[in-house]
Amino acid sequence: MRSFIIPLFLTLANFDSYASVSALTFPFQVRTDFPSHSLSRRDSSNGSITLTNTGNAQYIANVTLGGQEVRLIIDTGSSDLWVNFPSTVPTTTDTGKSLSLSYAIGSAGGDIHTVTAQFGSYTVNNQAFLLVTDASSFGSDIHDQGYDGLIGLGPNEGSQIYDKLSGDAGDTLLNNIFSQSSNSSNNFISLLLNRHGDPGQNYTGQMTIAEYVPGFENVTSMPKNDVESVLKLLGSDQHWQALTDKDNGIIGPDGQVIQYDSIVPKAPDGQLVVVFDSGFTFNQVPRDISDAIYGRVQGAIYDSTNEWWTVPCGQMLNVSLNFGGVNYPVHPLDTVDDNFGITSANGTHMCIGSFQPITTAFSLLGNYDMIMGMSFLRNVYAVLNYGDWADDDSADPFLQLLSTTNVESAHNDFVQVRMGGVDTSSASQWALLPSNEEVHSPVSEEEKKKQYQEMILSRWPYIFVGCLVFVLLVTGFIIWRCCCRKGQGLGLREKVGFVSTSSRRNAEGECILSVLQSFNSVPTSKFGLFGLWGWAGKRLWIWRVYLS
Ligand SMILES: *[C@@H]1O[C@H](CO)[C@@H](O)[C@H](O)[C@H]1NC(C)=O
Ligand SMILES: *[C@@H]1O[C@H](CO)[C@@H](O)[C@H](O)[C@H]1NC(C)=O
Ligand SMILES: *[C@@H]1O[C@H](CO)[C@@H](O)[C@H](O)[C@H]1NC(C)=O
Ligand SMILES: *[C@@H]1O[C@H](CO)[C@@H](O)[C@H](O)[C@H]1NC(C)=O
Ligand SMILES: *[C@@H]1O[C@H](CO)[C@@H](O)[C@H](O)[C@H]1NC(C)=O
Ligand SMILES: *[C@@H]1O[C@H](CO)[C@@H](O)[C@H](O)[C@H]1NC(C)=O
Ligand SMILES: *[C@@H]1O[C@H](CO)[C@@H](O)[C@H](O)[C@H]1NC(C)=O
Repeated sequence: MRSFIIPLFLTLANFDSYASVSALTFPFQVRTDFPSHSLSRRDSSNGSITLTNTGNAQYIANVTLGGQEVRLIIDTGSSDLWVNFPSTVPTTTDTGKSLSLSYAIGSAGGDIHTVTAQFGSYTVNNQAFLLVTDASSFGSDIHDQGYDGLIGLGPNEGSQIYDKLSGDAGDTLLNNIFSQSSNSSNNFISLLLNRHGDPGQNYTGQMTIAEYVPGFENVTSMPKNDVESVLKLLGSDQHWQALTDKDNGIIGPDGQVIQYDSIVPKAPDGQLVVVFDSGFTFNQVPRDISDAIYGRVQGAIYDSTNEWWTVPCGQMLNVSLNFGGVNYPVHPLDTVDDNFGITSANGTHMCIGSFQPITTAFSLLGNYDMIMGMSFLRNVYAVLNYGDWADDDSADPFLQLLSTTNVESAHNDFVQVRMGGVDTSSASQWALLPSNEEVHSPVSEEEKKKQYQEMILSRWPYIFVGCLVFVLLVTGFIIWRCCCRKGQGLGLREKVGFVSTSSRRNAEGECILSVLQSFNSVPTSKFGLFGLWGWAGKRLWIWRVYLS
């Protein structure tokens, strides 16, 4: 079977309240081969659910709603379930509440309905979901792309359906499944994403609920990454995330740590905040990190239209990340991605650098530094324990990652797939350029603006305090000039101050920070007005100080 698929970029609007949600349009759709035989179906009489891998770009789970089986993209970066039925719509109950969910690639709107849902071996009555009648903004035809909707695997509190329906009626499907169990330590799922085109891999992609994939039980002995340790600026932005190891976050192809300072104001020194999001085909990383990985590759060319590096497919690059003191290597077949059949200007077959500069999903509030998508998740067996994200549990949620990539056998796989079986990885053609010859990809004006906004928005409490101090100083100065030094001749005696510092958003949603200062003649007894405006989330605070 041949299919048209595109890389997925799913970012929910509330993923980061200020993130741009304008639709990303791709200049092309690529043809990708993927095996025509369907993967052997596991018996889903227990908690294991087969994931269909579409060209290493989408992982899809089947859910049965009202007796009809639908194919849903699994998305750990969001929490809502929506479906656009391909043909007949089963019998559902309309709650009368409507909702529109915005993702980076499109929006899904409709009414919230309830239905009986079956997922793996679990059945949930009255499961709320968004019945989408028009999904065209997601692409010409999502059904042709291999899916009918999306299932968010994030926490309840990130769900907009949950927000809309009061009480438990809007609980996510997973939450409803977890609440059937009497043992809350079983509130976990696990994800094993398989890799097409890797001769060294022999497992089926799957998701399990409340159990481990046989042979991967060792994940329980891996460090528990605390997903809540990064203090939140907003309540709605909790995600599956972890901190990299101190001063040892991400190791580049030259074996050296890639230096990068976190944009998250509260991140511990030397650590980066990483979100794990199966809704992204490629990893979204700071531009400097992307350049450090691909900017020293001979023949690599930056594609400013798609905002990714194109790299000769034979380039073997070793990249790894460290979490909880454990090293997680990324398979070279994932680092230099050959799933989209792209070519350079002269027609040469090229691959895509899967550590892509973060643009659309850039966190304007400085909540995270990077997002690890499917290209990374294929290298781990991940256990997502919901803890108290699920009802009736008091334990903390956590994330455990077991590496599934062995560097030596990955090397052999790469030689087989990309080098025709002959190891030429040490040829001079594949040597990295010296670090002082690293090529830097161009930063767009839009991106500079976003970085500037992030700097202000993520630090507004500090800016706010700074402004307050400034105003107090100016106030003090004016009082001193006008009252204490009355008559001493600098001409300021009859002038009073109007000083205001404001930080607000204009019609385009941009943050404007301005300091206004003007002096007007008014009676010295009525001494003026000092105003301070500050944005705090969605609230406008105004302080006024009158002196007389
Ligand atoms: C679930 O079913 C599959 C297929 O029958 C089996 O291989 C696996 O061991 C089962 N898992 C558990 C935990 O029983
Ligand atoms: C998922 O559902 C589709 C549509 O019903 C079906 O064609 C496909 O075989 C199912 N896949 C799995 C893994 O069950
Ligand atoms: C709950 O499950 C955990 C792990 O699955 C197990 O260790 C524990 O004994 C169970 N507790 C009860 C009360 O069944
Ligand atoms: C799959 O591969 C692993 C490691 O390469 C090996 O240990 C295991 O026996 C293989 N399993 C099967 C079913 O071939
Ligand atoms: C599981 O982990 C233990 C301790 O870390 C190790 O000794 C053992 O070899 C591991 N087993 C597998 C199958 O990897
Ligand atoms: C990547 O690491 C493996 C294992 O250390 C090594 O065999 C291989 O040569 C490395 N590849 C490159 C291009 O550095
Ligand atoms: C085509 O472009 C690639 C990458 O830009 C370059 O490496 C290659 O030499 C070019 N081939 C020809 C025939 O010009």
